[in-house]
Amino acid sequence: MSTKDIVLEILNQNIDCPTSGEILAQKCNVSRAAVWKAVKTLREQGYKIEGTTNGGYILLGNKDVFSKDAILTTLSKSYPQYSNSYIETFSQIDSTNTYAKQLISKTADITKIRNGIITAETQTAGRGRLGRTFVSPTKTGVYLSIIYAPETGITEPALLTAFSAVAICRVLKKLYKVEPKIKWINDIFVNGKKIAGILTEGTANFETGLIDSAIIGIGINILDNPEILNPEISKIAGSILGNSEQEINRCELIGEIWGQTLSIFEENPMDLIKEYKEYSFLIGKTIQVHPIIGDDKSVYNATAIDINEKAGLIVKLEDGSTKILNSGEVSLHSN
Ligand code: BTN
Repeated sequence: MSTKDIVLEILNQNIDCPTSGEILAQKCNVSRAAVWKAVKTLREQGYKIEGTTNGGYILLGNKDVFSKDAILTTLSKSYPQYSNSYIETFSQIDSTNTYAKQLISKTADITKIRNGIITAETQTAGRGRLGRTFVSPTKTGVYLSIIYAPETGITEPALLTAFSAVAICRVLKKLYKVEPKIKWINDIFVNGKKIAGILTEGTANFETGLIDSAIIGIGINILDNPEILNPEISKIAGSILGNSEQEINRCELIGEIWGQTLSIFEENPMDLIKEYKEYSFLIGKTIQVHPIIGDDKSVYNATAIDINEKAGLIVKLEDGSTKILNSGEVSLHSN
């Protein structure tokens, strides 16, 4: 970690009392002048650090400053194995997924950006599944794309989406003590409303015909944003913390999601499917299926009965037969 990161971490841990320049210098193993320089850079990045009369420093105000360093600080603390991964942050971008796709296509050596992240404070053309728009306002949400490129290639893209959903649920439980639920296949719900979505896109290798890398795009609403939440949208979309006054820390959330998503891909797939099912709120419910492939796109009713080892949704039709859904959209049946 850089001196600046260590200084920030120490000040963050001591928000109630000032930390002297001397202690900071000792803990960072640098001169006091180097500490002063680190504090200056942090202030330029937007951190409010007050210098006290006896030569101490204290971090004030809202700590929710969007910065590469703050994201990397969380990642290195919780997932040190990924701490050297590639990162690009933007205050505004069209879409982090679109940018990641372009980056992959122009990067000759994928190992340089493998496990990397592209994240932005706001997106002007955020994309959701099935060609939908993903509204991405600044300050109240996080928008990130993880570049996943295992050496052996990707054979089951649906599992990446499903396991990323589990990763998001774990992080939300850990940071916000909420009870997240998954609506097959990629929607995360808290208190009955969608608060996050995942858009997984693959980049194909035309020589092998396989998917070489995947971009896992994640958008999460942390707080309600009155600018976008009109009464109609509010019926279905929400946020983790609603309209609470709670201070948020977007960089901590991004760092945790990034590390947890990468590390979950190393876990046992069967255990993860079990965990996915535990978070799923569709099983046992009557649903409406909206097919997206095939000639017949008519909507039909079914009962969700299980999720298989490939994250397919097993449904029972009204005639008693069963069917496995590998794509499409489902909604809860409204009588
Ligand atoms: C959905 O709910 O349909 C999926 C939403 C995915 C949104 C994220 S935000 C970061 C990344 N960039 C995009 O343009 N989309 C994904």
